[in-house]
Amino acid sequence: MPAFSRRTFMLAATALGAMTFAGAALAEVPALAKKDTYKVGFAQTESNNPWRIAQTNSMKAEAEKRGYQLVYTDAAGSAAKQVADVNSMIAQGVDVIFLAPREEKPLIPAVMAAKKAGIPVILLDRSVDPSLAKAGEDYLTFIGSDFIQEGQRVAEWLAKNANGKSKIIELEGTTGSSPANDRKKGFDEAITAAGGFEIVASQTGDFARDKGRQVAESLLQAHPDADIIYAHNDEMAIGAISAIEAAGKVPGKDILVLSIDGGKEAVQAVVDGKIAAVVECNPRFGPKAFDTMAAYANGDKIEGKLVNDDKFYDSTNAAAELANAY
Ligand code: AHR
Repeated sequence: MPAFSRRTFMLAATALGAMTFAGAALAEVPALAKKDTYKVGFAQTESNNPWRIAQTNSMKAEAEKRGYQLVYTDAAGSAAKQVADVNSMIAQGVDVIFLAPREEKPLIPAVMAAKKAGIPVILLDRSVDPSLAKAGEDYLTFIGSDFIQEGQRVAEWLAKNANGKSKIIELEGTTGSSPANDRKKGFDEAITAAGGFEIVASQTGDFARDKGRQVAESLLQAHPDADIIYAHNDEMAIGAISAIEAAGKVPGKDILVLSIDGGKEAVQAVVDGKIAAVVECNPRFGPKAFDTMAAYANGDKIEGKLVNDDKFYDSTNAAAELANAY
């Protein structure tokens, strides 16, 4: 992966003549005119799980409700395609770009290209490397969950409810993505601080069900004493349940499974006793995303980070909450 630096981008922008005088053109997020309707881009990262589909549906529904034209792209799990998707939106002259960046570093050129073209970018659910692009300067704001806190909430639940279980397999999300980085950081630090636990293995399952199953299968063979699996999302947790059962063990009894996302299938697994607890990561972005865009066009000050509220599901509330899960 190329080494990006903020300085590299500033120099490149200068060379391309993007700076009109003394750096002023790159100092702020492009403005958004107040209009009756907009052409809005939404660059999705992939559509291989219920969380992504719920997020896309929420964005499409809100655009339709407001009568805005939505230019939607699906990068199909490729950061390079997502950069090309954003460039295509720029060429199509969208007013705003909502971007769910697959990974923290490779999407920086897309953020900078939109800024150079005078199009404000709002990051949805995943962020970019803060040393390379800044909210309120290179993009307008980040809207999403606090991923560090999500990892901490899983660790806090375990510290109270593990009942002597202690050996943890961690299934990480997509390498280089902000949820994988932050869910690991939040969990690992909090579980270490709690004491009495050991992370015996930690490996990526790429936020995908089948990869999660395969990785869990091989890690369970390598660590037959593992009695907890912490998955960075529901898809990998559901894959891990298959791996546990294939190993002749009982999820929820021999091995506790913990997850993040809170889709209906995972909340049902909590009701069934196969998943011990799930931290919700709310995918219903549409109303907040479009409200933020409208507020910006209105001239309101927009904070650099807008954090979503997330629920928590375990055996005490899963049955009652099932109908509300996405
Ligand atoms: O960025 C949020 C994460 O991305 C969700 O947890 C995951 O399921 C999705 O692919």
